[in-house]
Amino acid sequence: MSTTLRAGARHRIAFVLNGRGIEGDAEPRMLLSDFLRHALGATGTHVGCEHGVCGACTVQVDGLAVRSCLMLAVQADGRRIATVEALAGDEGELNALQKAFRRNHALQCGFCTAGILMSLDDWLAKNPDPDERSLREMLSGHLCRCTGYTGIVRAALEAAAEMRHGEEMEAAPRV
Ligand code: FES
Ligand code: FES
Repeated sequence: MSTTLRAGARHRIAFVLNGRGIEGDAEPRMLLSDFLRHALGATGTHVGCEHGVCGACTVQVDGLAVRSCLMLAVQADGRRIATVEALAGDEGELNALQKAFRRNHALQCGFCTAGILMSLDDWLAKNPDPDERSLREMLSGHLCRCTGYTGIVRAALEAAAEMRHGEEMEAAPRV
């Protein structure tokens, strides 16, 4: 059954944001990035180009990295959305990727960082042992005007190695 969305009208939507159910009203043309920031106050998600080029607005939708400026808020209805706020633990402790970014000075102004972290979080789960070339190819979808990418690449490779090591330790037989 199709639903007709009337321009100018507001529509009730409900989705899970960072593990918590939320409801809100959105105009049909409102971008998900704007809804997250302005309606929900999830300002960790940044907005740069607003046409899918810079990657700053990247979030995860049902576990997949997505540009939130290329998605309408009404399309989030019934989905699971994760923003950068979801990466740290309950007590605010940084995850392995965030710690590696801090250690390797992988950010300066930080404008691009939330989007890069959300893409890397998804990409490293699928590519746990990446080589530098494929990592740089993935990062070419994110514009960073400050760092020259060297620290970001180092941090991502370091975090990937740490996460692999953690999994090996968990899988190792106890003697
Ligand atoms: S703000 Fe979405 S890709 Fe630039
Ligand atoms: S750290 Fe400034 S744009 Fe990337």
